Amino acid sequence: PSETGRVLSIQSHTVQGYVGNKSAIFPLQLLGYDVDPINSVQFSNHTGYPSFKGQVLNGEQLWELIEGLEANDLLYYTHLLTGYIGSVSFLNTVLDVVSKLRSINPELTYVCDPVLGDEGKLYVPQELVTVYRDRVVPIASMLTPNQFEAELLTGLGIQSEEDGREACNLLHAVGPSKVVITSINVDGNLLLIGSYLKEKGHPPKQFKIAIPKIQAYFTGTGDLMTALLLGWSNKHPDNLEKAAELAVSSLQALLQRTLNDYKSAGHDPKSSSLEIRLIQSQDDIRSPEIKFKAEIY
Ligand code: ATP
Ligand code: PLP
Ligand code: MG
Ligand code: NA
Ligand code: MG
Repeated sequence: PSETGRVLSIQSHTVQGYVGNKSAIFPLQLLGYDVDPINSVQFSNHTGYPSFKGQVLNGEQLWELIEGLEANDLLYYTHLLTGYIGSVSFLNTVLDVVSKLRSINPELTYVCDPVLGDEGKLYVPQELVTVYRDRVVPIASMLTPNQFEAELLTGLGIQSEEDGREACNLLHAVGPSKVVITSINVDGNLLLIGSYLKEKGHPPKQFKIAIPKIQAYFTGTGDLMTALLLGWSNKHPDNLEKAAELAVSSLQALLQRTLNDYKSAGHDPKSSSLEIRLIQSQDDIRSPEIKFKAEIY
């Protein structure tokens, strides 16, 4: 496989700030990818602010863009990346997009962040859970759930790293050959759990990366994490632990910079959600110093 690729990224757009496509496009471009964004929504700012305004794309409008590309033979992609999706009709159209792209490139890698909620709270309509579980997970190449999402998709309660590894096994059995549970909370600290099938019929290779929790709340980090995992796992196709070390090391350097910048500006980082310093962290994205090491099970 090639070191780079052409990515179709179907995610949110915000005019101000970095979530969804705004936090995924720039890092993927820095890593050498061509990125074609489809904006599933265009909002003034992310939904964590007191208010927001903007437009939502529906499934028919998404399909119209796909037809426009197809009419000009522009539907060859190496990767599809999806994040937050707000309705069943839009998610069903995304399923059609996967089939269409695979009819043109059977090798298409579908990287799916199954955004359903966080910390015990759903932030999509309940009916999306079954669509993700029954129809999306089976066709995904790589899945990046958080702890709550991995629980919803497997029906397994995740209290320990062993539970996390078992959830990965259950997800592999349904489809994706790469699974990264981007964070589970164990004793107040964060643990990333990675798992991938190197050879068919063999047990998955599994690893963890410990991440000290920073006492602040960031937005856009989940979307950035999945984009970095796509970028690095494609460059290290048989070494997901290396890809995850690179992704976590970039992200943590960016979070430290974000925290320091807010503090120097006299803001209390605990008082509101922080906008990540994405552009200022370009060197940490292009060539991260690996400070977070994977421990292989
Ligand atoms: P999803 O995108 O599905 O919500 P998620 O809940 O794991 O996934 P985030 O909570 O945004 O997404 O976390 C993504 C990554 O960002 C984590 O794996 C972790 O590396 C990093 N991260 C986020 N918040 C913090 C924090 N307060 N301290 C340290 N790392 C953090
Ligand atoms: N998309 C939109 C429109 C949002 O408002 C948010 C968070 O508020 C996100 C995506 C997701 O951000 P994160 O990557 O932190 O999960
Ligand atoms: Mg989270
Ligand atoms: Na995630
Ligand atoms: Mg998220």
